[in-house]
Amino acid sequence: MPKIASYNGKVDLIENIKISPMSRAFLFSDSVYEVISFYKNKFIDLETHLDRLNHSLNETKISCSIEDCKSEIEKLLNESNFEDGYIYYQVSRGVDSIRSHFFDENDCERFGFIEEFSFFNQLPLKVMLVEDIRWQRCDIKSTSLLGNVLQMNDAKSAGCKEIIMHKNDELTEGGASNIFFVKDKTIFTPKLSSNILPGITRHQVLKIIKDQKLDFEEGSYGIDDLKEASSIWLTSTTKGIVCVEEIVNLETKINSECQLFKICKNAFIKKYFS
Ligand SMILES: Cc1ncc(COP(=O)(O)O)c(C=O)c1O
Repeated sequence: MPKIASYNGKVDLIENIKISPMSRAFLFSDSVYEVISFYKNKFIDLETHLDRLNHSLNETKISCSIEDCKSEIEKLLNESNFEDGYIYYQVSRGVDSIRSHFFDENDCERFGFIEEFSFFNQLPLKVMLVEDIRWQRCDIKSTSLLGNVLQMNDAKSAGCKEIIMHKNDELTEGGASNIFFVKDKTIFTPKLSSNILPGITRHQVLKIIKDQKLDFEEGSYGIDDLKEASSIWLTSTTKGIVCVEEIVNLETKINSECQLFKICKNAFIKKYFS
């Protein structure tokens, strides 16, 4: 199936889309993005993704109509014949003929593509604990992901599929996911701050935890908390909710048969994927 994409509102085959090398997305990574999943042709929490995109646009002062974004995202799904998958959608500050650090009011540049994806093949993950070397506004879903990319590729050489990051011992998040862990029958997750992305799946899982009346806490946690955890989970739009089976550079007491994980995962699948 040829891949389709959208560029400033026009849908075409991806190979027909031409983007200027003077795009600030290309020159400065001056752009923000979203990844939105759909299942049986319906978006999962599209409005929440649009709210987060709006937050990223406001915080970066990129002016763009969120209604245009919404209709372009919907058009991509309507014009594809995929049942299950996700849309990657980014907005940049547009073309800048002089590559200046100082920006003017440019026309924004919008680009998105659609991928087919199966959400049910997520195996437990081997991960690596690494220093969080990213900037200090990780609440913005910026395309500047070099910190994540470098650390994730170091982890890949050790056979890992993800990382868990900490900033001066304080746990932040995964390379492309949020973290939950269980200790003494309570579920913990790092509280929202400018050091982590407010994950849509994190939000969905927290709702499930509250609906199920499970004990949970949002706060600041360190590497020792992870060492003592009986179960560790990562959440993201494409991973859903997935267990960690091993942290290569940290000895843990992870039990892959965690009851709380099963309760949350089953409720998550029932709510969003049935
Ligand atoms: C750094 C980071 N944290 C968390 C997440 C999870 O966010 P969401 O659940 O909205 O996909 C992602 C997703 O790509 C991410 O890149």
